[in-house]
Amino acid sequence: MRISRRASAISPFYAMEYGRRAAELIADGHDVIRFNIGEPDFGAPPEFLAAARELCDGRPLPYTDALGLPALREAIARFYSEHFRCEVPARRVVVTSGASAALLMACAALVDPGDEVLIADPSYPCNRQFAESFGGTVRLIPTTAADRFQLTADGVSTAWSEATRGVMVASPSNPTGTSVPADELAAICDVARSRGGWRIIDEIYLGLADGDGGLPPRSVLASDPEAIVINSFSKYFGLTGWRLGWAIVPDGLVEVFERLEQNYYICPPTPSQFAALTCFSPESLAVAEARRTEFRERRKLVLDGLAEIGLDVPVVPDGAFYVYIDVGSTGMTASEFCDRALTEAHVALTPGKDFGVAGAERFVRLSYSVGKSELAEGISRLARFTR
Ligand SMILES: Cc1ncc(COP(=O)(O)O)c(C=O)c1O
Repeated sequence: MRISRRASAISPFYAMEYGRRAAELIADGHDVIRFNIGEPDFGAPPEFLAAARELCDGRPLPYTDALGLPALREAIARFYSEHFRCEVPARRVVVTSGASAALLMACAALVDPGDEVLIADPSYPCNRQFAESFGGTVRLIPTTAADRFQLTADGVSTAWSEATRGVMVASPSNPTGTSVPADELAAICDVARSRGGWRIIDEIYLGLADGDGGLPPRSVLASDPEAIVINSFSKYFGLTGWRLGWAIVPDGLVEVFERLEQNYYICPPTPSQFAALTCFSPESLAVAEARRTEFRERRKLVLDGLAEIGLDVPVVPDGAFYVYIDVGSTGMTASEFCDRALTEAHVALTPGKDFGVAGAERFVRLSYSVGKSELAEGISRLARFTR
């Protein structure tokens, strides 16, 4: 069978490869610390699980509107207003099958063959695939620690060409856990808007961000109401496998997303949508907030532990559950470091080459989505290993 050039060009996640090797070691009876997992270890909030159990009583769970249950769209709009300091009308909320489908729909809606899309290096690797699936050309812009490994307005302005149609940003970012400062993000959006370009801003980790100056994190929509915002139930609410996310899009795109969703996958999963209505209760939000506090405590443990070992984290993260470590001082490349840490210390990590090209062989992503005692054990194994 002839496989399409598009499919052939997509490389696998190295994170998955390390996950597979870690699983093999575990099956052989080894105890592996899995710092390679890109999802929270907590699972769904109890109220969600109770609702999901109730939904399995034999009732029909038919397709919903392509745009999602109206009550869920309302709840998401309220959540955005109450938590992220911006007003969002429910009619602009589009429920999707995870942030992944939201990103795919956004690229389907906006990218034509030959269009250039600006993305930071390092960044979430799937964005490149989404844009390229529709014939886009991705221009990776190398970032530096001085800019928190994020795009800057100047960088976007300099890179913008005749062919550029838009920019994709994730803030906080995977793999670095760092955000674009709110003013800088507003300036990036201004640059793109002034050139007639679109802005896709992925806020999947916004619920797990520290926020600015004691205030809760703020959505980009507060400064750029026409940005296309992506978010998800996966990380803040711990619902990765339930495949539910959303996009907030300008009025003119709602009908476009509706047609795309109808055709591409009809609707997001119905049971997940009904159960997700519980996510916005005071009890479930308290659970999510407690987890965010737990992540911040773990982050401190990781940063202190790595500093003691002498492994450099050039930018202190302010969100998500990732730390981007410079392993240059060990004399190993990032790939060597990850290979040897797994085989010799039974610690699974993800090499920078999963996320980009620039400096990829110097950096390793550590995900602290494991409990504190496992975390401490992993750090002491890394200490022994690097010694
Ligand atoms: C930055 C970023 N965007 C999107 C996604 C996809 O998430 P979802 O599970 O909602 O599809 C991920 C998953 O790791 C991510 O890190």
